[in-house]
Amino acid sequence: MKTRITEMLEIEHPIIQGGMHYVGLAELASAVSNAGGLGIITGLTQGTPEKLTAEINKCNDMTDKPFGVNLTFLPSLTPPDYPGLIESIIKGGVKVVETAGSNPAKWLPLLKEHGIKVIHKCCSVRHALKAESIGCDAVSVDGFECGGHPGEDDVPNFILLPRAADELSIPFVASGGMADGRSLVASLAMGADGMNMGTRFVVTKEAPVHENVKEAILKATELDTRLVMRPLRNTERVLNNAAVEKLLEKEKSLGSDISFQDIAEEVAGVYPKVMQNGDMDSGAWSCGMVAGLINSNPTVKELIDSIMDEANTIINKRLSHL
Ligand SMILES: Cc1cc2nc3c(=O)[nH]c(=O)nc-3n(C[C@H](O)[C@H](O)[C@H](O)COP(=O)(O)O)c2cc1C
Repeated sequence: MKTRITEMLEIEHPIIQGGMHYVGLAELASAVSNAGGLGIITGLTQGTPEKLTAEINKCNDMTDKPFGVNLTFLPSLTPPDYPGLIESIIKGGVKVVETAGSNPAKWLPLLKEHGIKVIHKCCSVRHALKAESIGCDAVSVDGFECGGHPGEDDVPNFILLPRAADELSIPFVASGGMADGRSLVASLAMGADGMNMGTRFVVTKEAPVHENVKEAILKATELDTRLVMRPLRNTERVLNNAAVEKLLEKEKSLGSDISFQDIAEEVAGVYPKVMQNGDMDSGAWSCGMVAGLINSNPTVKELIDSIMDEANTIINKRLSHL
């Protein structure tokens, strides 16, 4: 299948694996790229330029295909060494950067000077248009269903994607709630050039996370996610658990007086405990409503091949016969 995204990123299938903290490591990113999609290493999981260089080298050893690095820009008193991380990306020969969080304008000239394509992740049409205006090559449009940070507008993909298609000139991928061939065909029908998946890729053989994480997602339904940090305007969609319930109780009782410190126990430093140790109730971790559509733990190649087969069947058999 050829779309503006496959052409731009020089990949076979219009499927991207979004950056995921403590999940997007070389094992998963290379598996996605080897299966014809675009795998993405999560820059901030590595944290330092030295560690990111090592992870990029490892991924380069595991695949000859293009892969990307996610750079999430968060407001912080002690920000990560972004210039150093970008240097690692450039020196590692990485072809694509997925940016997320704050406006990446400051970093674009350097990335573009080195021929790196920039896909910015946005949860609203206005942010997508901003990304287009500052020179991003593509955007990943994340609907309200998505795992992670859906923003504060709460617009689901059935509205957000066609709105994005009406306004944008640059290519975009649909993100949030994507799981199978039906998701891909629907994304294309709504005007996207492909799709981005997070939660679905966590439950694959190659995802380097504890089995408890995969089991929790397999067990979950579309009713089992919660929105946390809403009062801080930093909303995150997470899988419900004991720590999340405690966090939500605090949000209810503290109301608008709440500060990050009040919930630090449930949200800070949680990912290694969950993803590496399988300590599932240790805090809040991102998970999309799409958990309700995830019922198997395939290899990445089996997953991507099945998505493409199902998409082709829908397009060529079901839809063409209507
Ligand atoms: C466990 C997990 C961790 C994530 N970590 C990040 C991250 O560090 N940076 C980022 O930009 N997005 C992150 N995301 C969001 C994904 O890249 C993607 O946009 C989102 O998962 C899409 O929604 P879906 O889960 O419904 O497919 C994360 C998502 C999950 C499920």
